[in-house]
Amino acid sequence: MIIFHEIGSLQDHIKKERQKGKTIGFVPTMGALHQGHLSLISRSRQEADVTVCSIFVNPTQFNDPKDFEKYPITTSQDIRLLIKAETDILFLPSVEEIYPKGTQVDVHYDLGYLETILEGAHRPGHFQGVCQVVHRLLDIVQPDTLFLGQKDYQQCLVLKKLIELISSPTHVIIGETVREENGLAMSSRNLRLSDEERQKATNIFQVLSAIKTQRNNKTVAELTSAAEKTLLNNGFSKVDYVAIADAETLELLPPDQVPPNSKPLVALVGAFMGEVRLIDNTLLT
Ligand code: PAF
Repeated sequence: MIIFHEIGSLQDHIKKERQKGKTIGFVPTMGALHQGHLSLISRSRQEADVTVCSIFVNPTQFNDPKDFEKYPITTSQDIRLLIKAETDILFLPSVEEIYPKGTQVDVHYDLGYLETILEGAHRPGHFQGVCQVVHRLLDIVQPDTLFLGQKDYQQCLVLKKLIELISSPTHVIIGETVREENGLAMSSRNLRLSDEERQKATNIFQVLSAIKTQRNNKTVAELTSAAEKTLLNNGFSKVDYVAIADAETLELLPPDQVPPNSKPLVALVGAFMGEVRLIDNTLLT
């Protein structure tokens, strides 16, 4: 694996690979890598000739400065994992390399409705920061295919919208959420949980599974309020949302509706275990 810290040398290398007719797959990350990231690397290795992974903890997407300060950094371990996974290129830039003019968000991405709900509503500015960095990374790497994880469901829709807004030719592939044996979705933030909290956090998966099995005989309000109660009774300190939405548009279903079978739906949760905010989702198909 070749590690690049600078844009110029990364682009020179990618250009040479392209001249040989090779396709480029790109897995952007913020490090603290786990099996979820590695499954995207493996997917990229299947689909593209050259796999580029980036590790960059993007300051502009943290609406909570404490969350940024505490974001886990495990770079040496990440490098070992990426070598083992046979990643071709790691891009490990500094903040100055990505934002030479400073980190202020100077472009507004018109994400419309998508930015007004769920993660968008609870983390103001978050998706603007995500778009800012992914736009920059796409400009640098110019991948044929971008690999994203389904765990960040709303982010996947936002980034598809970004690609449309900037008329990028990059194709998006979404990899399924990878879970621990007990159902907990793999997340870099899990590193901040104690063993006990990690065990309690599996309740997110339990409530999502319950919504899936009970969707045909309960209303959205009944399903989501039962899920919220279960989370609060099992160690979660705050529930930002439990929601059921159209899987393609993320339009929220009305509370009095029984989720219809006629269209793809997704159930989503955002909740705090202590100070750590966790998200997860499941498709209701
Ligand atoms: O999902 C993430 O890790 C980040 O939001 C991303 C896409 C790497 C942008 O910083």
